[in-house]
Amino acid sequence: MFQPSNVVPSIIFDFGTHTTKAGFGGEGLPRFLCSSSVGIQKLQTETVTSKASDYIVGERNLLRRIEGTEIISPFNEDGFVENWEALEAIISYSSTQLSADLSTNAVLVVEPSQNPKKEREKLVELLFEKFDVPAIYLLRSAVATCFANGRYTGCAVELGARGTEITPVFEGAIVGNKSSRLNVGGEHLTRYVLSQVDEKGLQLNPFFTFRKKFLQDEEPVEETVQKRTFDIEPVTFSDMRESYLWFWKKKLAEDIKVALCRVNDQPDIDLNSIQIPFISYELPDGTLVEMGREKYSAADCLLDPSRVGLSSKSLVDEIIDVIEGCDSSLHRELYSSICFSGGTSNLTGLLEYLTVALGRRMHKVKLLGSNVEAERRFAAWTGGSMLATFGEFQKMWLSKAEYEENGKTFIHKKCA
Ligand SMILES: Nc1ncnc2c1ncn2[C@@H]1O[C@H](COP(=O)(O)OP(=O)(O)OP(=O)(O)O)[C@@H](O)[C@H]1O
Ligand SMILES: [Mg+2]
Repeated sequence: MFQPSNVVPSIIFDFGTHTTKAGFGGEGLPRFLCSSSVGIQKLQTETVTSKASDYIVGERNLLRRIEGTEIISPFNEDGFVENWEALEAIISYSSTQLSADLSTNAVLVVEPSQNPKKEREKLVELLFEKFDVPAIYLLRSAVATCFANGRYTGCAVELGARGTEITPVFEGAIVGNKSSRLNVGGEHLTRYVLSQVDEKGLQLNPFFTFRKKFLQDEEPVEETVQKRTFDIEPVTFSDMRESYLWFWKKKLAEDIKVALCRVNDQPDIDLNSIQIPFISYELPDGTLVEMGREKYSAADCLLDPSRVGLSSKSLVDEIIDVIEGCDSSLHRELYSSICFSGGTSNLTGLLEYLTVALGRRMHKVKLLGSNVEAERRFAAWTGGSMLATFGEFQKMWLSKAEYEENGKTFIHKKCA
């Protein structure tokens, strides 16, 4: 029987809407990452319900099944799981990739901070009933983010894919009803980049949609002209689904975003009055995407939404409003521990901008986030991994015996 007297071996999951992170408790970073979007072959009639084994997980496997594969997300618009068979497939695949047996490891899941009770219960049921895990803990991701940054109390700013969550945390627990969610995340920035590419009249062609024909290097090419060493010819598919192509186009747009988009580090200067150098990104088919001042626009979705036609509040206003909405005795501590996590927090120049912009509005502001990109992106996972190996924490696990005795709702008692 499961005896949580010593530190037990554990597997840590963070099922993000964009990327699933998985690895071993006590390690600094997740060992395994995979896209949380999965494939399903819709060759059968739509009325047939899908089993977990029908889903295709992992980009390498998706590339083997181009024809007839639809790409779906297990999550709804708010980032909560709605397709449990797809999540089951992701868990199976991740544990296989880790060579980990879930029936001999406690499982800690870093969950969305506002995860509804019903979703928590379903997750617990899935892990105990289908995977036979010996013990479970669900950790709110805002708490995990603060924890990874060395704080029990702080304001977590989680910049993921589907949204941005700002959550005050006091002594390891979320301050009730004071958090806020901006419906702008990395996904919106990616879509913005897609629209910019579209406006330039450029096409995003994933690498499997064309073949390269290398040119004979016979004709002399003028030095000033960029030399293209290949031509491309399209590869056609009889049944490539729209969702499949869209998935891979978005990946290209993400690469462009990461390479070119940044936050304007001179916000006081009118961009129209100065010369801004162009920077470029070469797509797999040789097309060059060039950006001048427009490289700053995607970040405006978060920092100056009205400029790009959005009605949401700016990230700076939202952080201040959340902290000011808490009891005044907490303000000082929250302002001095603003903790970051999530891939979008790696947007070039973002933390530098926020340090200046928040510092101008409030006194004694301190932003916490690793300088190492991966550590910042995966901070919530790392917070879970650290907690799972604390000696004191071991009595917090919900064991299978407790689950069998008290039922799935007992999770709310064990993991507040
Ligand atoms: N260096 C970077 N610059 C800008 N954006 C980045 C960078 N690296 C990753 N991203 C973006 O971060 C997002 C993925 O981050 P993350 O893995 O934290 O999301 P997630 O946890 O799956 O999403 P969520 O928490 O919203 O459910 C994607 O939109 C990706 O394009
Ligand atoms: Mg996340």
